Order: sequence, then structure tokens, then C-alpha cells
Amino acid sequence: IQEDASNVAIWSANYIAKRINDAKPTEKRPFVLGLPTGGTPLGTYKALISLHKEGKVSFKNVVTFNMDEYVGIPKEHPESYYSFMWNNFFSHVDVQEENVNILNGNAPDMKKECLRYEKKILSYGGIDLFMGGVGVDGHIAFNEPGSSLASRTRDKELNQDTIVANSRFFDNDINQVPKKALTVGVGTLLDSKEIMILITGHNKSRALRHAVEEGVNHMWTISALQLHSQSMILCDESATYEL
Ligand code: GLP
Repeated sequence: IQEDASNVAIWSANYIAKRINDAKPTEKRPFVLGLPTGGTPLGTYKALISLHKEGKVSFKNVVTFNMDEYVGIPKEHPESYYSFMWNNFFSHVDVQEENVNILNGNAPDMKKECLRYEKKILSYGGIDLFMGGVGVDGHIAFNEPGSSLASRTRDKELNQDTIVANSRFFDNDINQVPKKALTVGVGTLLDSKEIMILITGHNKSRALRHAVEEGVNHMWTISALQLHSQSMILCDESATYEL
């Protein structure tokens, strides 16, 4: 528990940098990092960019996999997760374009695309560290309430709550928010060697309670973290309101 969101950002960025540096990644043996979008990780990305500019971390031998992507908007759309990642992070660090992996929400065959993604993760021997956030309803990536805890990468209909929450990025117009996404599954996330979830703000306090004080439950997919031996939740004080 950190005092506020800015401390969560600094702590998480330092943690990621340390993990990368300790791994001493090379081209042959890159560090594999799973990444989220959303408002919560923005501070972490800013702090990582600063660390990079200070020469404290390099992403040259880091391979990234994003958690999810909307279906049905072009990747150049300003609110696609592709645009989010390039605008807020990748363009500001030395990551190599060919090392960036983001699901293609416009793939002609969604099943094939999801299988390709799972295979690609496996080809690197899995994900070393997956950073994530959580939705107000406890979803992780786009694993909405009711998702199987064994789920793999697949397409998923978004919940009305999620559509409303994400409408703030689409001129507050729910009609503009995509209704579907491709997402790694809960099972995919649980296969990562380590998971770090950031939870900040009062509005996430219910999700945090379900994550750590209630049982493992597919209606609060964040609670699946309890099944993982190397998972951590990094939160601020306002998110602990219901603990
Ligand atoms: C979306 C993303 C999640 C993210 C969640 C919360 O649903 N798919 O990965 O955790 O939003 O986002 P925010 O951090 O903006 O609250």
C-alpha cells in the first residue's frame, strides 16, 4: 500500500526497471513484459520513461505483450490500445518495434489471431512479468465477470459497466465505445511468472476487497490472483477503503 497514485507509479516503475536490469536481457534471451492500458498505468509509463532518459533502464531487449485491444476500431484510432501504447510509452523509449506485440482487433479471423498470440507468448517461454490494472467490476484485462478462470486469449463482449466506464475516452458517448475486444485470458495471465496489479482510487475499493478478502470467484476475475504464487497488488490508500 502506497500513500497515493504517484507513489504507486514510482514504485511500480522502479520495480519493473529492477526486474529488467536483474535479468540482464539479451537479444537471444529477452525480458518478456506484459502491459496494460487505462488511466491507472499512465503514471508508471511516465516514470519508466524518466528512468529510461536517466539511463537507468533500457527496453532494447524487452519483448512486450499487451493485454487486450478493442475490436472494430482501426488501429490508428486515437483510442485504440495500439495508439495508447505508442503515444504514452513505446515512442518515448528504446523498445524495438518488432518486439512489440498487440492483438489485432481487425484481424479477419479472430480465433486465428488469438491462437497466434498465445503461440507467440509461448515461443518466448512465457511472460516474465505481467503488469495490469483492474476494472471497477473486478475485471482483469477484458475478462469480464463470468469469464472462466481457465480462459485463454479470445474475443469478449464488453459489459455495459465497462462500456460506460470507458466512454470517458470516447467523448462520453457510449455509442462510440467498441462493444467487443480481444483479450488474454485469466489462464494466460496466470501462466506468467509474476503478476503485478495496480489499483488506485476510491472507485476501485470494492474490486480490491474482492481481490484479497473474498474467495476466488469468476464473477470478480481479479480474485484469480490468489491462485498465483508470485502475484502482488500495489495500491494506494484510497483504494483500501473497503478493506
Ligand atoms: C479497461 C482495460 C483494463 C483496465 C481497466 C481499468 O477495461 N481493459 O486492462 O485495467 O480498463 O482502467 P483504468 O485504469 O482506466 O481504470
